[in-house]
Amino acid sequence: MSQKESALTPVPDEVGHHYDRLAVIAATKPGDNLHVGYWDSPDSEVPAEEATDRLTDVMAEKLKIGADSHVLDVGCGIGGPGVRIARLTGAQLTGISVSQEQVKLANSLAESAGLADRVVFQQANAMELPFPAQSFDAVIALESILHMPDRGQVLAQICRVLRPGGRLVLTDWFERAPIPAAKQPTVDRFHSSFMSTMVQAEDYPPMLRRAGLWFEEILDISEQTLRKSFLWFSAHMNQAWFSARMNQAQPDFETTFGDKAADRFDTADMADIPEFGYLMVVAKRPEE
Ligand SMILES: C[S@@+](CC[C@H](N)C(=O)[O-])C[C@H]1O[C@@H](n2cnc3c(N)ncnc32)[C@H](O)[C@@H]1O
Repeated sequence: MSQKESALTPVPDEVGHHYDRLAVIAATKPGDNLHVGYWDSPDSEVPAEEATDRLTDVMAEKLKIGADSHVLDVGCGIGGPGVRIARLTGAQLTGISVSQEQVKLANSLAESAGLADRVVFQQANAMELPFPAQSFDAVIALESILHMPDRGQVLAQICRVLRPGGRLVLTDWFERAPIPAAKQPTVDRFHSSFMSTMVQAEDYPPMLRRAGLWFEEILDISEQTLRKSFLWFSAHMNQAWFSARMNQAQPDFETTFGDKAADRFDTADMADIPEFGYLMVVAKRPEE
């Protein structure tokens, strides 16, 4: 497969540890989403907190679910997208994350939303989904597959747990055009600090087919998502309270949100790399 390896191919336990540490910080940030925002037009002035919910909604609409559906959220973060989907559609939702700390926060969120009877989060590795075959009507993987060491294996696992006719909607990093040599070190640093890799858009149809899924749609949503999001993350991370909280919580934390301002990767550096893209993929398990 042509998945581009960064200096650091993600290892699920390490990604889990990374998010356990981040959970301390995430619990203090506005909103319950850990993903980019979606702005319908470049001049939209919608606040980032609303734009992140908007991305969840755009994806949820493509799942074609209702109150009788059971949805799996692969890489559920601190529960914002899963709780929102369950609240707006009436569906039952099970979310998984490799981070135990995220799972605790996500279950508290479900409880405070009064949804704990139909929204449950648990620690699990998407590379080996601990669910019986055909146990879900739909699967969402919002900005999580980019952290996984083998996308093909995750897609095969998702296909196994989807019922025939069920849909998968995911987002991922992708290379829209060759990254210019001068920008490659920034992209490499981003991937190694964020523990991610990226693909080419044309990798998806064959990867899905090999996993047993039918490719339905692939959308380049870079323009609606990335630039404003990278600038928003940067502004958020550069606030003094964020650094102080980070240093207090995890003095040895050296990845994306590194403990010393000078060491910290600034996501604003990614804002003007139009070759770096964000895609949404819709696929379906064929009817039998
Ligand atoms: C960028 S966050 C997105 C979280 C959430 N989907 C959201 O949009 O708010 C990536 C998520 O993927 C999860 N993740 C990464 N690798 C995983 C794996 N191998 N199995 C399960 N979850 C994983 C992380 O724990 C984290 O919750």
